[in-house]
Amino acid sequence: MQIENIQAFAHKYLDNDTTGHDYWHGKRVANLAQKLFLQDYPRVSKRQLDLLLVMGYWHDTIDEKICSNPGKVTDEMKQLLEKEEFRQDEISSVLFVLNHMSFSKNLEHYFQLPMIGQYVQDADRIEALGAIGIARAFAFGGSHNQKIYDPAIKPQILKSHKQYRNHEATTVNHFYEKLFHLEQTMNTPAGRKIAHERTLYMHKFIDQFLKEWEGE
Ligand code: ADP
Ligand code: NI
Repeated sequence: MQIENIQAFAHKYLDNDTTGHDYWHGKRVANLAQKLFLQDYPRVSKRQLDLLLVMGYWHDTIDEKICSNPGKVTDEMKQLLEKEEFRQDEISSVLFVLNHMSFSKNLEHYFQLPMIGQYVQDADRIEALGAIGIARAFAFGGSHNQKIYDPAIKPQILKSHKQYRNHEATTVNHFYEKLFHLEQTMNTPAGRKIAHERTLYMHKFIDQFLKEWEGE
């Protein structure tokens, strides 16, 4: 596999994003997923790692948030993966993971992903945590005209995709509604450890934020 071709495809579909789902997010997810997978399985094959990198770089390219024509982008992906000499079952596995890994899709129905997909999903969720996660949350909030914080708007328990997308959100509430719970949704031992560390860091940030809000 030529990683440059995989990266060029990610650039093509993600470079214009300003909501925290740009090329660099894809690259970080690919690299982090690889690191976590190698921690748990040091003797994995090059082919498995290649598939994991494809899933990482491309995981947001056909997401509804970014993409208005997923059918067309999917066809292009298939062509490129065939050119890179992946088998049909491997191509199907990449597409299954891309179509089923998002947090909101798994709210109502839990999808069991193949093992490398579980590492990519963990890496993507970890990207919503820590310093990067804080930056991405406020970038997302800003680009969706969402308030930073409003004490009159209380955090909710969100159980459906529709509720998640349509409720009145503030970015600080998003930490209570989703981000502080993400560490409990990790699939893998390596993912759980780093998710826990980054969650502690975010708690410190929110504690400090609320102290400053109260004028301390
Ligand atoms: P997924 O793509 O897995 O369905 P989301 O679209 O919910 O997940 O989240 C992707 C990124 O956008 C995360 O970093 C998340 O924190 C951020 N995000 C999503 N919804 C909000 C929101 N209402 N406020 C702030 N950040 C958000
Ligand atoms: Ni993502």
